[in-house]
Amino acid sequence: MKIKRDSSAKRKTELLCGFVLEDSNKVLGLPKVDSKTTSSINQSLKDMNGKLGKLTIIPIPGKKQAQRILLAGLGKKENITNDTIRFVSGKIAQTARELKLKEFSIIVPPTFVNDSVSSISQIVEGAKMSLYKFDKFKAEKVDKSPDMTIIVSKSSKISKAIKIAESVADGAIFTKSIANLPPNECTPTTLANFAKNISKKNKMKCTVISQPELKKKGFGGITAVGKGSKNEPKLITMEHNNGPKNQKPIVLVGKAVTFDTGGISLKPGQSMDEMKFDKCGGCTVLGIMKSVSELKLPINVVGIIPSVENMPGGEAYRPGDIIKLYNGKTAEILNTDAEGRLILADALAYGEKQYSPKAIIDFATLTGACIIALGNNVAAIVSNNEQLTEKITTSSKTTTEEIWELPLTQDYMDMIKSDVADIKNIGIGRAAGTITAAAFLKSAIKDTPWAHLDIAGVAWTQGAATKDKPYNPKGATGFGVRLILDYLQKL
Ligand code: BES
Ligand code: MG
Ligand code: ZN
Repeated sequence: MKIKRDSSAKRKTELLCGFVLEDSNKVLGLPKVDSKTTSSINQSLKDMNGKLGKLTIIPIPGKKQAQRILLAGLGKKENITNDTIRFVSGKIAQTARELKLKEFSIIVPPTFVNDSVSSISQIVEGAKMSLYKFDKFKAEKVDKSPDMTIIVSKSSKISKAIKIAESVADGAIFTKSIANLPPNECTPTTLANFAKNISKKNKMKCTVISQPELKKKGFGGITAVGKGSKNEPKLITMEHNNGPKNQKPIVLVGKAVTFDTGGISLKPGQSMDEMKFDKCGGCTVLGIMKSVSELKLPINVVGIIPSVENMPGGEAYRPGDIIKLYNGKTAEILNTDAEGRLILADALAYGEKQYSPKAIIDFATLTGACIIALGNNVAAIVSNNEQLTEKITTSSKTTTEEIWELPLTQDYMDMIKSDVADIKNIGIGRAAGTITAAAFLKSAIKDTPWAHLDIAGVAWTQGAATKDKPYNPKGATGFGVRLILDYLQKL
């Protein structure tokens, strides 16, 4: 979809869309039209009454500038949020596609949000993301995406907002498109190649560490988990260096288990296919790094992706094994299905040692317990630094990627103490599973401000428990991409 801006609503267009507030009798920003059109609009306004998400199309006969007018309900003025606009704009874009239109136009109401630049970002995000569909492996492809013209006055601030929102949406779509790939088509090597490609395009430094280097350099977690699979593990690093030379970078780490069978502690068969999404954290980092480098943000950001396939087999690691992590601590393996924390511990320690970062943020589909605690619409955040949590929470309010903090006190750290090694890779029974997993991660780093996002419940749509949004069609959601891009832009 191409996105343009135009100052006049009196342009030639296949579909002219205007927003309507609940209980109001006008279309926001619509210029004067002839009396016949006015009366059909008024009739439709009465019927739809601006109810949230309600769309009504009015055909305009004759050689008019607009072939159709679409009234889009926004609901009550006081209830409008960023997500309302994303939601409605997404519905509009999908409707235009269903009608097989080449293009459509949306009038930005001058009044309904005080910051119209922000609402333009939501219109772009909502429309773009709603037109993405995973059809790579289907003979019958989804219809071509229509182009969109945003009708709003000309200003450099607005053009910039459109550009940024396009790139942010593209980042999220990139994340979804990789995360949706099936595990036979997406191995650690495939992910490394994606990283190399975006790095080459956008001038990032990209390094990939493979076996036997991983083992030689002491990445005991990645090596142990990766052993059971023919598809070798990779540690992928991308560096975006566009800030002052001596400015400490933000390090982003993402779990990328391209398929999680559970290993020797094999998972039950039910829904095991969904474990292709166990690479979503790593895909989030890929999407963020793509946009960060495209937008040339004036900061230093490093993306680190430990990637493995967790398989059972003759070579696989076992319950009872004791391994040595990158930071030198030993870990007793009590369940090979708790693999994410092992590869992340290596990557976190490596990130801290190699880059002395200002902050580390990690993303991981880490625990089923997170879904029990928070469901499928809110991610868990666990951190060692209040300010960092506060900043991410602020961004989360802007992007509507909801998070909720869980505590991480010494008592939880004590729960991962092992009898035979420094730590063990599970807690005590099922108690506080999301926090004991986070405790394992915390033990990997020293004192760098760090925040962990457990995205197990939100990284892909999980049936009726996931709130239905046009911009999150079935499959991976790209959760975290818009969130952290907002955080990075505010730095
Ligand atoms: N990838 C899973 C977590 C997961 C499960 C995410 C279901 C989304 C949906 C992770 O590797 C795992 O298996 N965790 C175990 C940990 C347990 C063995 C301590 C879990 O949550 O059951
Ligand atoms: Mg597992
Ligand atoms: Zn996993």
